[in-house]
Parts: sequence; structure tokens; C-alpha cells
Amino acid sequence: MKKYVHGYSTIEANRLNDQADSLADLLHHDSVWQEGSIILEVGCGVGAQTKTIAPKNIKSKFISIDISEDSICQAKKLMESEGIENVEFLQADIFDLPLEDEYFDHIFLCFVLEHLPNPNTALEKLMKKLKRNGTITLIEGDHGSTYFHPDSLEAKKAINCQVELQKLNGGDANIGRKLYPILEKVGFQEINVTPRQVYVDDSNPDWVEGFTKNTFTQMIKGISEEAISKGLIDRRTMAKGISDLYKTAEGEGTFCYTFFKGIGVKK
Ligand SMILES: C[S@@+](CC[C@H](N)C(=O)[O-])C[C@H]1O[C@@H](n2cnc3c(N)ncnc32)[C@H](O)[C@@H]1O
Repeated sequence: MKKYVHGYSTIEANRLNDQADSLADLLHHDSVWQEGSIILEVGCGVGAQTKTIAPKNIKSKFISIDISEDSICQAKKLMESEGIENVEFLQADIFDLPLEDEYFDHIFLCFVLEHLPNPNTALEKLMKKLKRNGTITLIEGDHGSTYFHPDSLEAKKAINCQVELQKLNGGDANIGRKLYPILEKVGFQEINVTPRQVYVDDSNPDWVEGFTKNTFTQMIKGISEEAISKGLIDRRTMAKGISDLYKTAEGEGTFCYTFFKGIGVKK
């Protein structure tokens, strides 16, 4: 990873937590593994997903790793404040894991592959850590799946800046649609990928705030200065794009986005 496109600021930590809270049911109603499992969570960040999946699997043990020491510290504090005790944290790099081979029953990654220049290599490394018949679960977004009302060319251009910046950093903001071929290429079997669509209108105020405004639009705001400074967009178009994204969260506005959850088995 050249540079983590979203950065590690407090605003970004809050955004990840808002994202996780508003999406918890959609993404995690089935994030349940058999009791007594040892589960590796890779790229846990500030623990935004950990705080949902660990309590759902209270009789299993999690080892949650991230390359960022600072994020690990924040994740530890979050688990303490939530009274979650079945997680051990470790600062580590996916590509150099200080963990035994064939040790884990399950592996879980959320919003990590999109940032890596070599997602297949990462999965090959992780596959080694899985026991036979163990599973890997991947959750990723896909910015190409975004559409909204009122439609706006400027908003689409602003979103595309995120896609381009992620590409410049070696990642892929449209990776969700590729989970099946990636899992297949790496050699996982019994692959199952399900789209998880977020559709937001005024009848769901929690998602208007938690997803359209505080997760998605906040993400585009977060990369706006970098996109302008790299010449990907001019300031006026970016400002109009962001303002138009906020309009999709008002009155008659609507917003759609699709995440993808893929599961594969190591045979
Ligand atoms: C978008 S965040 C997702 C965090 C968390 N999974 C969530 O959904 O809120 C991506 C995380 O992957 C971590 N990461 C990126 N490359 C990594 C690597 N090579 N090894 C371990 N963690 C990595 C980053 O530090 C960051 O915390």
C-alpha cells in the first residue's frame, strides 16, 4: 500500500464508526461462525467492525490485526469501553504475518482489499493461515454502484475522484464486483458472493444521516483537497458535487450503493 487513501484522522475514525453502525445489520446479520472458532480479523482499523462481530460470536476468539499501531490502540480502547473481551489485538502487516500456518478457523476482512495493489497475493498469504475447510469472508464496496436522485454530473465527477485517487495509491474502489473472480483465482472453493444494497430515502432517517451524509458524502469531502491539488477536478465542480450529494439526503432525494460480501472455503 503506497498510502492509505482515507488517512488516519479523528474525522476518518468517526466516519468508519458511523459507516459500521449504520450498516451493521445489512453486512453482519450473517457474520456468525460456529462456537469455539478462532477468527483472524485483518485490517481491523479502529475496531469499527470488530465491535459488531465480536459480540455476535462471544464464544469464539478473535485475533484482530492492523498495520497501524495508532488504529490498534484506538480499537483496544473501544473494546474496553464496550466491555468486549474476546478480542486480542496485534500490530502486523498482512504480507508478513507473525502467525502460525493453518491456525485459524475463519478469516474476515472488511474494506481492506480495496486499498491493496496486490489483493490476490494478500489472499494467498491469508489462505496459508487457514485450517482446511476454514472460510474467508470479504466485504468490499464498489463506487461504480452509486446512483442517486437528483442526478448530478458534478457529484459523479466528485465520486470519480475517489476512484482515481485510490487507483493512484494502487487500490481499487470498484473491487466489490471482482470478489468472485479474485476468490476463484486464489483457489478458494464453494464461493458465494451476495450484493448488499443500501437504498436510502427520507423514510429511513438513520441511514440518511449514518450512510448518505456521514459515511459516503463525508468520504468524498475527505479526499476533496487532495483531488483538487492533484488536478483531478476544479474547486467549483468539487464543491457543487458535494453540495449535490447532500441534496440526495434531503426531502425527495434518494441514494443507492451496493456492497459485496464474498465467502470462500479452503479445501
Ligand atoms: C478502510 S480501513 C477499514 C478498517 C475496518 N476493517 C473497518 O471496516 O472499519 C482499512 C484498514 O486496512 C489497514 N491495512 C492496510 N494495509 C494493511 C496491511 N498491509 N496489513 C494490515 N493492515 C492493513 C489500514 O491500516 C486500515 O486500518
